Amino acid sequence: MLTSIKNNNFKYESQKLGMMYFRVAIVLFGAQLLMGLIAAIQFLVPGFLFEVFDFSVARMVHINALVVWMLFAMIGSVYYMLPDETGIETVGIKLGKLAFWVLTAAIVVVVLVYIFIQIGPGKESTIWLINEGREYLEAPRWADIGIVVVILIFYYNVFFTFIKGRKTGIMTVMVANLLALAGLYLAGMFFTDNISIDQYWWWWVIHLWVEATWEVFVGTLAAYALVKIIGAKREIVEMWLWIEVLMLFGSGILGLGHHYFWIGTPEYWWEIGALFSSLEPVPLVAMFVHVLYDWGKEQGESGSKPAITNTPAMAWIVTNAFGNFLGAGIWGFFHTLPQVNIYTHGTQFTAAHGHLAFFGAYATILIGMMYLGIQGSVGAKRMKATFKSKMAIFLITFGVLGMTVALTIAGYEQVLIERAELGGGWDAFFTAQNLPWYVQAQVWRTIMGVVTFIGFVYLVWDLLTIGKQAQAEN
Ligand code: HEM
Ligand code: HEM
Ligand SMILES: [Fe+2]
Repeated sequence: MLTSIKNNNFKYESQKLGMMYFRVAIVLFGAQLLMGLIAAIQFLVPGFLFEVFDFSVARMVHINALVVWMLFAMIGSVYYMLPDETGIETVGIKLGKLAFWVLTAAIVVVVLVYIFIQIGPGKESTIWLINEGREYLEAPRWADIGIVVVILIFYYNVFFTFIKGRKTGIMTVMVANLLALAGLYLAGMFFTDNISIDQYWWWWVIHLWVEATWEVFVGTLAAYALVKIIGAKREIVEMWLWIEVLMLFGSGILGLGHHYFWIGTPEYWWEIGALFSSLEPVPLVAMFVHVLYDWGKEQGESGSKPAITNTPAMAWIVTNAFGNFLGAGIWGFFHTLPQVNIYTHGTQFTAAHGHLAFFGAYATILIGMMYLGIQGSVGAKRMKATFKSKMAIFLITFGVLGMTVALTIAGYEQVLIERAELGGGWDAFFTAQNLPWYVQAQVWRTIMGVVTFIGFVYLVWDLLTIGKQAQAEN
């Protein structure tokens, strides 16, 4: 069991700390899905939980929980792989543990405040105590400052462990990238009362996280996981990693321009955004090829049978290669040119892309890392997928794909009716949302959301039991 696994198989405290982060991450993932379901029902029955649990709150908690569970799982992954890569215990591990509790407690308080204080006047004190009002990063400023302190401790641990221990290529990229990732958070902390300026900087966090630094982060995880799971050659995965880093930053940084089309920024962003963001799928293809290439190559070298030491983790990592390419690469490319985006901007098409991209590029590989963690915690040489592992990956992936297709149809209808036919505007917005294609699409999204949730239940069940089973088989 996740909670009762004998952690004593770990040689390093850092790996135990990694597992603590994973546990909170999975709980928050569950909360995210429940909030999504509430918000989805509210699309169909607008009065559902009105003034008890408003759509604005359900949606906010849904996407904030998303960001936070992913950050927890990312920090967990780093603490988990750090001693493995550097060959030493993490420096300042006691402080790291303290920081974990501080961060977890702060998040509980923030969520309780969101839930109990849903409406009221927006004052200076609101920003400090209740809600900062920046989508995905709504945490009030006191929590922002707390997060910065905790992340400084985290970075201190990682950096000095890196300096003291073995320096692999994977860790070199990881340490440099984490500095950029953490630093960008600061861009989302300044308040200006000009909405254009506010959005300008807010996108530095959102875009430069998910389309640059988080992608590089995932690249390092994939490299590490491929070495662990299929015994891929380090020189090869590290070569790929450097190429990916170059391409990801090359296209991702100026690709930022695709959010500067209509917010009052200068018009040259149309060309810059169009060109660089169109190149963004290229590194995603490279990451896809990388996983499949290494997999194929290792299979060839080790004889006819592939030596996969952790099949559920590998399944999630292969899903990551596909999902990243599809959700971010293809669905992103669809609407990235200004000529297209003028019609699709802010429709359900955006939501379709947001779901498949976050799931495909991040949820998948982070779940894979949890399976690796469990294998490590029980000290099993091999871990085989169970029936529950298969149900989990199938239902979650199928559910998210189903939601994406449904939302794409809803978005398509909005583009045709609301934007092209009726020319946009308030009335057009509501007319389009009441037509059958849109409503049916929202029904299907809700059904597929339930499928995703059932998959999640299997996932938790599997994570709680697979360790014991693997231990028994080894
Ligand atoms: C894993 C990587 C990615 C993730 C997690 C992601 C996620 C998202 C999300 C959540 C939004 C909506 C933001 C909002 O609330 O306003 C968004 C918007 C957008 N994304 Fe991505 N994205 C990724 C990669 C890409 C790529 C590679 C492209 C282009 C090739 C792209 C193009 C866009 C565009 C153009 C928008 C603006 C949509 C609009 O105008 O409404 N994204 N993305
Ligand atoms: C039980 C399954 C889920 C349901 C029912 C659900 C439902 C929803 C709803 C109703 C919204 C608000 C959309 C709007 O304002 O138009 C939303 C937004 C969002 N959800 Fe989910 N969701 C689910 C799972 C997920 C998963 C697994 C992810 C990613 C890993 C995710 C990521 C997002 C993102 C990024 C947004 C913001 C999209 C945007 O602003 O364009 N959701 N979701
Ligand atoms: Fe972007």
